[in-house]
Amino acid sequence: MLVACALRELLRACLRRKNHGLAVTAILLVIIIVVLTSQILTTKRLHRHGRLALEGQPALTLATTFSDNPQRFQVHSQTVYNWAALRPQLRPVLFAGNLSSSLALLAKRHGWEVQFIQDADQQGMPYINSLFKLIQEQYDSHFYGYSNGDMLFGSSLTETLYSVQRETHVKHEHFLFIAQRTSVNYKDMLKMDSQFWRPDRVQEYACTMGRPDPPTTIDFFITTPYGIPWDTLPQLVIGKTCFDNYIIMIALYLFVGTVDVTGTVHNMHMTGGGKSMTHSDNHLLDQGANQRIINQFGHVSFELGSVANCKYLTRKTERGIELGKFLDWKIPPGFQRLQVNAKEMMVSTV
Ligand SMILES: *[C@@H]1O[C@H](CO)[C@@H](O)[C@H](O)[C@H]1NC(C)=O
Repeated sequence: MLVACALRELLRACLRRKNHGLAVTAILLVIIIVVLTSQILTTKRLHRHGRLALEGQPALTLATTFSDNPQRFQVHSQTVYNWAALRPQLRPVLFAGNLSSSLALLAKRHGWEVQFIQDADQQGMPYINSLFKLIQEQYDSHFYGYSNGDMLFGSSLTETLYSVQRETHVKHEHFLFIAQRTSVNYKDMLKMDSQFWRPDRVQEYACTMGRPDPPTTIDFFITTPYGIPWDTLPQLVIGKTCFDNYIIMIALYLFVGTVDVTGTVHNMHMTGGGKSMTHSDNHLLDQGANQRIINQFGHVSFELGSVANCKYLTRKTERGIELGKFLDWKIPPGFQRLQVNAKEMMVSTV
């Protein structure tokens, strides 16, 4: 401020003496000082907002679809609020068959990107290949993902991605991030806390109220840009069973680095209690479509597409969130015998 005042005075003095050359120099000086100051201020602001702003683009573009079933409106609206609260680190994209449906409008009002489903099967379910191609071409972000429309996340999702993005080997290898999900009954949650969808509360409730599901129930997956060669995969649709396990198997097969982020990403899968609000009650015809296509290529053990088969994991250390490698430790034959003996001994003493 002081500098600006001094310059203004100088400018006035110059103009009074009709020294135009000096006046122009003074104006240029002012411009340079203003630009420099604003740069310093923005850098400071960036630092205050942490890595996000410094890196300048969303960590993740995350796509989903919602069911048109009116009974699902409440569940999906929690997703709309939660993902919207994770912006701008996360860019939520809804693929909708009807751009004027109440959920599409709600999402739009909350800052979501809404895309029309262009490439779908007879039940209107989008092909995963086309969906990924579209988001990779249209949006800039460090990672791209798909999640079911009934998943809530803590901000630990984008924090994890920003952290691992910086790790150098991420740049030399393609990655697929998955996690074991945690389920809650959303009706109970709503009764207890009408804003349980808030990312900080999801983080808390995932630990205190969530029930872990089996390692083969994968409800979201995230890849490095062009991490999976979508063009070479069969035409699988999302929203029907098995496509997620198949993608993990493909990742293992193609030596894409599979990362289990369960340790650092808080997630919450909303159910309506029992089997309601799951694949088995969405009355979608032809649920076995993906399985049928995959089986054309030969027998497939879907259990392989499990979080348990990941090569890497993320964990929190005093230095922050880090990418670690699962040990591939084989028990030496001698030890194996020792263990078997130990087991037999234990059995015999019982
Ligand atoms: C789209 O949704 C709106 C609002 O619910 C409805 O009036 C309209 O009929 C729907 N259009 C189609 C093609 O289903």
